[in-house]
Amino acid sequence: MAEVELRDVRKSFGAVQVIDGVNLTIGDGAFVVFVGPSGSGKSTLLRMIAGLETASGGKIMIDGHDVTYAEPAERGIAMVFQSYAHYPHVNVYENIAFNLRLSKMSRPEIDPRVKEAARILRLEALLQRAPAQLSGGAASACRHRAGDRAPSQGVPV
Ligand SMILES: Nc1ncnc2c1ncn2[C@@H]1O[C@H](COP(=O)(O)OP(=O)(O)O)[C@@H](O)[C@H]1O
Ligand SMILES: [Mg+2]
Repeated sequence: MAEVELRDVRKSFGAVQVIDGVNLTIGDGAFVVFVGPSGSGKSTLLRMIAGLETASGGKIMIDGHDVTYAEPAERGIAMVFQSYAHYPHVNVYENIAFNLRLSKMSRPEIDPRVKEAARILRLEALLQRAPAQLSGGAASACRHRAGDRAPSQGVPV
């Protein structure tokens, strides 16, 4: 967990301003929901926090570090997408390992983390299966990949 602070965060796509100066502090462990009409900028804001979109202005801080221009893998967070987001061509093990590979962790470091994630999520028996061979619940657990919480901790939730 971490504290997230947004300071005057802005985003424009070309001439269109989508996020007009958001100021928000999300405390460590807080559960926060962004609510608003379709097109109001919820996804854009989340994508900027995760580093999938670059802010046009302002500052994004995670645990006191300025991550406004940091790569997604350097932020220790990731997004779980609303839509189905497995890699269908690889098995459960590789799906869980994906974010850790992205953060350039070596295989010997990744392996125990994937196994620990699978143990916590009770997916151990399913590691060699393809996503299409999973139940809805198992698929959802798999989607919360090992790096989705914090690559540095390597523990999923
Ligand atoms: N890559 C993009 N290029 C241009 N406009 C975009 C892009 N992504 C989002 N937008 C626009 O930004 C606005 C906010 O979109 P979005 O963050 O997806 O809203 P929400 O998630 O609240 O529905 C919308 O008007 C959308 O069309
Ligand atoms: Mg959205």
